[in-house]
Amino acid sequence: MGCRKEEKFTPCCWDTTKPIEEKLNFKDPLVEIGFGNGDFTVELARRFPEKPILAVDKWHPGVRALVHKCLNQKLNNLYVFNLDANLFVEYLLKPNQVEAFYFNYPDPFFKKRDIKRRLLKTSFLRWVAFKLKDGGKVYIRTDIEDYYNYILEQLEPLKGIFQIERSFDWKLPTTKYEQKALREGRKPLKLLLIKLKTPEGLEDREVEPLRSVKIENYNPQRVYKNLELKDPKRGYFLKVEETYKGEKVDLIETFVGEEGFYQQVFIAVYKSPSGFVVRPKSFAVGVRSLSWAVEELAKLLS
Ligand SMILES: C[S@@+](CC[C@H](N)C(=O)[O-])C[C@H]1O[C@@H](n2cnc3c(N)ncnc32)[C@H](O)[C@@H]1O
Repeated sequence: MGCRKEEKFTPCCWDTTKPIEEKLNFKDPLVEIGFGNGDFTVELARRFPEKPILAVDKWHPGVRALVHKCLNQKLNNLYVFNLDANLFVEYLLKPNQVEAFYFNYPDPFFKKRDIKRRLLKTSFLRWVAFKLKDGGKVYIRTDIEDYYNYILEQLEPLKGIFQIERSFDWKLPTTKYEQKALREGRKPLKLLLIKLKTPEGLEDREVEPLRSVKIENYNPQRVYKNLELKDPKRGYFLKVEETYKGEKVDLIETFVGEEGFYQQVFIAVYKSPSGFVVRPKSFAVGVRSLSWAVEELAKLLS
């Protein structure tokens, strides 16, 4: 999903048909995480035409909608990423790069067993601080008091890292969820975090070149829908969603992940003069779990 030239997409969106093997080279970007239908993003891009606006969501229909809004309105400072936010923040942003992060009405995951899926927890907020410039800001809005209190708890260990304000004056553009909350009688609760210092104990994670493995023999039936592989020691996992047979290339649709995130990646098998090659084909971020997944699939297929 992304800006494809044949559809006359302008370069206002990141070309998410291509793998990303290096960090994003934007100066002082504003980053919105979980943009939903993208109304806020468009408004932000309009208010700050000179700034790069990076917008991240893992919900396909929202990504599609925002790409179209971006093109219709001829915004040339907006970059849309269809990715898990953990992966985006940890791997693709540089330390001390970001001017501001915006989290508008992140999913509250009410059920007890789902609370671990909440995005704004200590470990993730530490990465956010690591990627923020000194004095950089994080704007958070939620209509769910329980989540608001949860975020405050999660911020306890980060008190020296962030200055924490329980409100902010700046009138941010509204969002679809905010409108829904207001209609249903819930008030927006706000938090402003200002980076005071860089957290210790984190090491920047490099994006890796995508792994490509040659095999001599190819046994396609060894990889099938719903196949699951794990490396419990490193917390890596792979699930085969579907397999597709093509004339020149076979594709294996997978979910590949490690603790905290996953990405959907198509892995191709195609014929080469000396045998076959297995490698990621679709938009993918070069991380270790993906290299592992390509190697495991190649072993199975050969
Ligand atoms: C409740 S909606 C809010 C949407 C929008 N910000 C608004 O206020 O209307 C939360 C959004 O966050 C996205 N989201 C949740 N977890 C995410 C993650 N780990 N990475 C990227 N996006 C995520 C969801 O797909 C969804 O679009």
